[in-house]
Amino acid sequence: MQNILITGGAGFIGSNFVRYLLQKYPAYSVVVYDKLTYAGNLDNLRDVERHPQYAFVRGDICDAAAVERAIAEHKIDTLVNFAAETHVDRSILDADAFIRTDVYGTYVLLEAAKKFGLRYHQVGTDEVYGWVEQGSSRETDPLVPRSPYAASKASADLLIGAYVVTHHVGATITRGANNIGPYQFPEKVVPLFVTNAIDDLPLPLYGDGKQQRDYQFVLDHCEAIDAVLHRGVIGEAYNVGTGHETYNIDLAHAILKLLNKPASLIQHVPDRAGHDRRYSLDVSKLHALGWQSRHAFAAALEKTVQWYVANAWWWRKLKSGEYLAYYKKQYEERT
Ligand code: NAD
Ligand code: DAU
Repeated sequence: MQNILITGGAGFIGSNFVRYLLQKYPAYSVVVYDKLTYAGNLDNLRDVERHPQYAFVRGDICDAAAVERAIAEHKIDTLVNFAAETHVDRSILDADAFIRTDVYGTYVLLEAAKKFGLRYHQVGTDEVYGWVEQGSSRETDPLVPRSPYAASKASADLLIGAYVVTHHVGATITRGANNIGPYQFPEKVVPLFVTNAIDDLPLPLYGDGKQQRDYQFVLDHCEAIDAVLHRGVIGEAYNVGTGHETYNIDLAHAILKLLNKPASLIQHVPDRAGHDRRYSLDVSKLHALGWQSRHAFAAALEKTVQWYVANAWWWRKLKSGEYLAYYKKQYEERT
């Protein structure tokens, strides 16, 4: 493993992973390949853009010729795929880009992995298990996705399994719970609530707010991907999370408390269609690989809130243009 292509590396988790890899493995060359959709942002990578072991290529993972060109030019031996359409609410408004990027794009990358003999890692999601009413999901559980986003990610996982068995592609999958931390696009609940609260704007809480998510710190997720990339068994999937869930209503109160803002900013709005009320992961398989989450929920949230308070330069310019049009459609026109 020497030359790593990070598809979707200009997004939230991908950019954190790029920074993590460059620090931990000085001998690796890291090439980001990213289409720069509304969620891709070169500001996320500003502090590494002059690093001698880093390069950036703008491209679409659905463009097979461009993907192959990047792999050949940079002598890539390993591909970690973060590229995806990632926001559930947008997949409910329009699923087209989700099917193209998350399903067809994964197929294009798998074909390239087959052709060039690459080690392939897919950054997957716990949403593929669907609503977990009781207990916790294990990697062998059936995939029962319930949103167009989750269905597109489950389709990718199934394609990967097929390429391992049929074409002997050296692939692994991680299925992560909700990440929080620096550089998350302010459509996702934590940066949305934090940046709204800073500006004394309402926090739009879906339904009764009694939905549960396992909010984990993004660097813990990066360490987990590293562990699976280097020590995971080919053909296997690994769940990644703290193993503890938080109610959204408690998340909203915790954010307001950290920012010293009143609870009256919480505004209950109509629920998300098909909203999964609970995800819960059994992470024992990843623990057996030697990985442990380093941040419990409270510590992860505090670090995250502090970062958004200190980095208004990063998020203020994102809350304009297309974002405001989306916000209006998602929140004002629905209420
Ligand atoms: P993000 O939305 O912040 O970033 C996605 C990146 O992919 C952007 O840089 C975007 O420009 C790029 N991209 C989109 N379509 C592309 C295409 N066709 N070709 C090339 N690049 C393209 O996403 P994120 O939150 O960082 O998530 C990264 C990955 O992790 C995704 O695969 C997501 O499903 C998965 N995941 C996310 C979470 C989470 O909580 N955010 C949890 C588990 C898994
Ligand atoms: O579980 C992993 C997944 O986590 C990733 O695969 C997805 O890419 C990522 O977007 C995230 O999906 P969620 O739908 O869980 O995240 P989101 O931040 O959109 O919502 C988190 C919870 O907060 C969910 O129960 C819905 C609720 N919510 C969200 C928004 C945007 C609100 O109550 N109000 C909101 O305005």
